[in-house]
Amino acid sequence: MAKRIGIITAGGDSPGLNAAIRGVGKAALSSDIEVLGFRDGFRGLAENLKLKLDKRALSGILTVGGTILGTGRDKPHRMEVDGQMVDVTDTIVRNYEKEKLDALVCLGGGGTHKNALRLVEAGLNIITLPKTIDNDVALTDATIGFDTALGIATEAIDRLHSTAHSHHRIIIAEVMGHRAGWLTLGAGIAGGADVILIPEIPFSMETVAEKIRSRDLAGSNFSIIVVAEGALEIGHDLIYQDLGSEMRAPRLGGIGQHLQRDLEDVTGRETRCVVLGHLQRGGRPNAFDRMLATNFGSCAVRALANGEHGVMVALQAGDVVSVPLTEAIKNIKTVPPNGQLVRTARDTGISFGASDEANYHKPL
Ligand code: F6P
Repeated sequence: MAKRIGIITAGGDSPGLNAAIRGVGKAALSSDIEVLGFRDGFRGLAENLKLKLDKRALSGILTVGGTILGTGRDKPHRMEVDGQMVDVTDTIVRNYEKEKLDALVCLGGGGTHKNALRLVEAGLNIITLPKTIDNDVALTDATIGFDTALGIATEAIDRLHSTAHSHHRIIIAEVMGHRAGWLTLGAGIAGGADVILIPEIPFSMETVAEKIRSRDLAGSNFSIIVVAEGALEIGHDLIYQDLGSEMRAPRLGGIGQHLQRDLEDVTGRETRCVVLGHLQRGGRPNAFDRMLATNFGSCAVRALANGEHGVMVALQAGDVVSVPLTEAIKNIKTVPPNGQLVRTARDTGISFGASDEANYHKPL
């Protein structure tokens, strides 16, 4: 039976991380398990930066955005130390042993699960919780933070609608999501967008312009386009804000502005672009994410108590289950281009800008 566990939050933050920390912490404390939080993701494990998560530390954090532990994108096998990239796996293992941890709970997205698996292979007992506003972790129906971000992006589209309508403009909302379009697709459907552009369906500028012209002809003299930062225009490369370096991962961004320039040229219609950016990740988690995070947290402690490790807790058809980390990291969960949601969007008149878009406008 575990007596002392550690917990980290790694990767980009998402609303509900504190609710998950609290879920793990409260469930652990009620089973007399001590909980240590390590700061700033895997770096805190390497540098042994820790704080005790007692009842007092866990109080009042359920509704708070961000993570009280801090987060970071450092990887155990390639961490910057004094300007050099160093493999700190052995140091992390030593600190885990020094702190007499029986297990470690890692909250993160795809990258975190891969890094956690490396530590499992180095001998640590680990259980992970899926969180990311991108909702792109395989084998789970939901990730912590997605639902809140979906609400924020949808509200932004609602607000853009009224101003686009008033000024007869095209307004483009650039939404986060580098390899998966769940957030863009969900917010686009919920917000009644006219065009949705996602990484899974490469788009043609001409098809997007055609959709706008056809709306004009039908008397709708404004349009809303929702584009994922990782959407790809056919025949072009992805657009990056920052190409990254040895030390820093590349950052996508700029597809919205690219669309703005080209569509204004091609359609002659005044066009604006709004990048929703980190607004989607910050702030209070909604009720669903608080509930999911609390449930994931306490189920993770139950799984540990049952001797499970090397697993990720996941939501499948309404139940929280454990799936092997080796399976969870095999693929990311992307939007099926011919799946139900895409079809629903098309059936309700939304264009994905695909070059063969016209073929989809068929009755059931
Ligand atoms: O959390 C995932 C994500 O939101 C991606 O959609 C986005 O590309 C990335 O994080 C940006 O993160 P940051 O600005 O922290 O580098």
